[in-house]
Amino acid sequence: MIKKAIFPVGGLGTRFLPATKAMPKEMLPVVDKPLIQYAVEEAAEAGVEEFIFVTGRNKTAIEDHFDHSFELEATLGAKGKDEALDLVKDMLHNPGSVFYVRQQQPAGLGHAVWCARHLVGSEPVAVLLADDLILGASCVKEMVDSYKGGNMVAVMDVPHQQTGSYGIVKPGTDDGRIVQVEGLVEKPDPSSAPSNIAVVGRYIITPEVFETLAAQERGAGGEIQLTDALAKQIGKAPFTGVRFSGERFDCGSKLGFLQANVAFGLNNDQMRDELHDWLGERLG
Ligand code: UTP
Repeated sequence: MIKKAIFPVGGLGTRFLPATKAMPKEMLPVVDKPLIQYAVEEAAEAGVEEFIFVTGRNKTAIEDHFDHSFELEATLGAKGKDEALDLVKDMLHNPGSVFYVRQQQPAGLGHAVWCARHLVGSEPVAVLLADDLILGASCVKEMVDSYKGGNMVAVMDVPHQQTGSYGIVKPGTDDGRIVQVEGLVEKPDPSSAPSNIAVVGRYIITPEVFETLAAQERGAGGEIQLTDALAKQIGKAPFTGVRFSGERFDCGSKLGFLQANVAFGLNNDQMRDELHDWLGERLG
């Protein structure tokens, strides 16, 4: 049903400097895969066939990552390293199904998404932020499976005192999994937060959102915000939040990134036992 996905990767990643000075944040690896590859695989699992990357300066490593590396493939082939060769070949998508558009300045997530408008057309599209990494079932697939039109966000319940770090939903009816979104507040103080239901970086948006984004209105931080454009659609189109089954890690922060590496390491058959023992010794 959702055939296209946008991956905004045009941000500066300032919280991760100096690592992100010359390397995109989205290429940071969790165990053995860059963040962006997890996001692409999650979208592919949901049936997405066209992958649109909104890039910026210093992001060419992402284009190279999703392309043939003839020298590497030839060398692995000549050395008989078939498993490694399959690994680098299997992750390639059909020719013509990967698109790149450049966000000329990091003017915000809404601006990045808007830059992809000519590649999207008149159908709903998924948006995935690779720095929100999800361990478990494909979050986008869970969203697509529940999608009945309109706009949709992935949501999770956060401790009340953390509402100031997230976009927070003003909920309507809520069956424990699907919540109707009646309002969105960006990073509210716990004292004024309408709930503790937080938006994470997975969206399905309708073409009308691009029309709203075209007004280029600046919001928090002087940036063009996707949540502001989504909030403007409330009342005009259905807007739902989906509580997903996986566990989300904020890999845009150093602590979240380290936690993701430990959690994905403990989830990996080849390293679980050794990592578990090492952590046990380390923590006494
Ligand atoms: P963040 O809010 O994490 O911003 O963006 P950032 O610039 O990447 O990182 P910090 O805060 O400076 O450390 C969330 C997502 O939106 C993309 C980012 O690449 C990231 O995937 N983004 C953000 C853009 O594509 N363009 C922008 O102008 C801003």
